[in-house]
Amino acid sequence: MLDLGLTGKTAFVAGCGSGIGQACVRAMAEAGTRVACFDIDREATGAAVLAAEALGAVAIPLVGDARQRADVQRAVDEAADAFDGIDVLVDVIGLALWGRTVDMDEKTWDDSFDVVLRHFFHLSSVVGRRMVAQDRGGSIVAIASVSGMRSAPLHGPYGAAKAGIISLVGTLAMELAGSRIRVNSVSPGAVLTPRVAEMLRGPRLAQSAESIPLGRLADPDDIAKAVTFLSSDLGAYVTGQNLVVDGGASKQFPLSTRA
Ligand SMILES: NC(=O)c1ccc[n+]([C@@H]2O[C@H](COP(=O)([O-])OP(=O)(O)OC[C@H]3O[C@@H](n4cnc5c(N)ncnc54)[C@H](O)[C@@H]3O)[C@@H](O)[C@H]2O)c1
Repeated sequence: MLDLGLTGKTAFVAGCGSGIGQACVRAMAEAGTRVACFDIDREATGAAVLAAEALGAVAIPLVGDARQRADVQRAVDEAADAFDGIDVLVDVIGLALWGRTVDMDEKTWDDSFDVVLRHFFHLSSVVGRRMVAQDRGGSIVAIASVSGMRSAPLHGPYGAAKAGIISLVGTLAMELAGSRIRVNSVSPGAVLTPRVAEMLRGPRLAQSAESIPLGRLADPDDIAKAVTFLSSDLGAYVTGQNLVVDGGASKQFPLSTRA
């Protein structure tokens, strides 16, 4: 069996309540880590802890708003105290606020950047400093999006902020490489989370699947597997990268059909 090198380590999963976050919590628990489950949603945080425990992992709930530096600092301190440090940060937090850019008010723009990009500045700084002080390396994985790489109507601040995540990941990777801390992002295409399933009810789901070379939307577990690869020793020589997990969707020429 492949040794992921994660047994006995600690993973801090931010946004553990989302479809992708829940899948990441399960993946980290199955890989043998202790899991600090962080989210703004108290109920979802408790459910994530139960899911990790059901897989035999030790887990703790941490509730806070990642847009607030004080909340992030408190949660990271609590996790590090409970688990003797943090080895892996998985950041899944993000929220898409759609709208035509030319009609968008400043508050929507600012809110979008706060929840998509600014919070990652807080998390990566606070966890990154902690990992440097621990002096035992580490891995940071952020969930970006193909929206940060390609353009689409209504994606203005969301796409720009996700592009910011991809850029910041590169910078952090360079700044932290000397401390053996790797920093990468995963960019999903469409993922069949409960929220997306609700958006694509009826024939739209089949139409969306048909437009993807692999013929289906991603399952949250597809994203968690990529996160596990980058978090683990399997990705030991990978840093500063953005791993696209979209069934080939962003690679195809717009007029092509599936073979
Ligand atoms: N679902 C998709 O198709 C898709 C595609 C590409 C990228 N993504 C990205 O994947 C990530 C997860 O997507 P999802 O659809 O599972 O998300 P979601 O909207 O279902 O969940 C986001 C999670 O983050 C938490 N959260 C939101 N704001 C927070 C804050 N300020 N502090 C702490 N927690 C907060 C929410 O409570 C929720 O549990 C996001 O970053 C999203 O942009 C999703």
